[in-house]
Amino acid sequence: MKITELHTHLLEHRLDRAFESASMRFDRRQHLLVEIVCDDGTTGWGECLGPALPNAAVVKAYARALIGRDPLETEKIWLELYNLLRDQGQRGLAVTALSGIDIALWDIKGKHFGVPISTLLGGRFRDSVRAYATGSFRIDGEDRVDSVAKEVAGYRQEGFHAVKVKIGFGVEEDLAVIEAVRGAIGPDMRLMIDANHGYDVLEAVQLGKSAAQYGIDWFEEPVLPEQLGAYRAVRAGQPIPVAGGETWHGRYGMLEPIETRCVDIIQPDICGAGGFTEMRRIADLAAMHGVRLVPHVWGTAVQIAASLQFMAALAPNPPRPEPIEPILEFDRTHNPFRQAVVKSPLEHQAGLVRIPDGPGLGIEIERVALEEFALQEV
Ligand code: NI
Ligand code: CA
Repeated sequence: MKITELHTHLLEHRLDRAFESASMRFDRRQHLLVEIVCDDGTTGWGECLGPALPNAAVVKAYARALIGRDPLETEKIWLELYNLLRDQGQRGLAVTALSGIDIALWDIKGKHFGVPISTLLGGRFRDSVRAYATGSFRIDGEDRVDSVAKEVAGYRQEGFHAVKVKIGFGVEEDLAVIEAVRGAIGPDMRLMIDANHGYDVLEAVQLGKSAAQYGIDWFEEPVLPEQLGAYRAVRAGQPIPVAGGETWHGRYGMLEPIETRCVDIIQPDICGAGGFTEMRRIADLAAMHGVRLVPHVWGTAVQIAASLQFMAALAPNPPRPEPIEPILEFDRTHNPFRQAVVKSPLEHQAGLVRIPDGPGLGIEIERVALEEFALQEV
């Protein structure tokens, strides 16, 4: 079995209404899918976290080293590609691009052996996961307190057990939003907050001290991801557990945050942290240090499917009759191709998502959608 072709699919949808996190304005949704084709007709799919064009450029840079290779040699290929850019790479796009390739190779491997990737990873601990709703971005022209309270009440109605709210727009406004959200969802629903590294340490500590009374499960990306000492200061200075990791790539990028306990919860993204091959090592690293792992998920159905296969095989830590279960981040923002790229969308039912059990990622790509949402390069 040999790899014969590698294709990148750049997808885009321009939004009628832009939305903002604390660190970024979105006027479009963009994703990059990777397709790898083998001489026997087997095709694998992967996705890269982050902007489509630069990811596609790096994926193409890896192509020459991939064509003609045996796709089942995932470990050897990962190391070889990583080494190609190691001196200038190590993290960032070098690893997000590699992630999409690695996921596609595991999809091929699963299809080749006729089993889901979770079986290749050693077996399933679970066949479904509970999802939590991520939304509540700042939308142009909307009163944030009212609109977010209304939005999260809808997630409760849909059956979600947990919701994550965007903050980082200023301590006072954020506290008003958090108070309104807790009022709208009631006392039992789990609530997380995500500052998208929009605060400095003093603001994050102040916010955390005041927000703790509303029962917050975790405080995500309080400060800039490069500032690991600032992470530790936030963790020490306020009572809410700290989470982060979506912008840290590869096991070396995860090592110091885990070893020095910058976070209580590490959030690697399978499409950014290095694919299945590297996620296993990161999961081991986190488990060995007693850091909880909850994956970051913000992409198309390919990304959701890859995250589900990984989560199926994620060992409970500690093992016990009723273990701590990983929860799936479920993006609720407007994104018409998030689910359209597959023939059977991966939807939740009352906040529960079934993990596909077909070969590989367990999904079938809808090629018509790839054409419909193809990015027009200018
Ligand atoms: Ni639209
Ligand atoms: Ca986040």
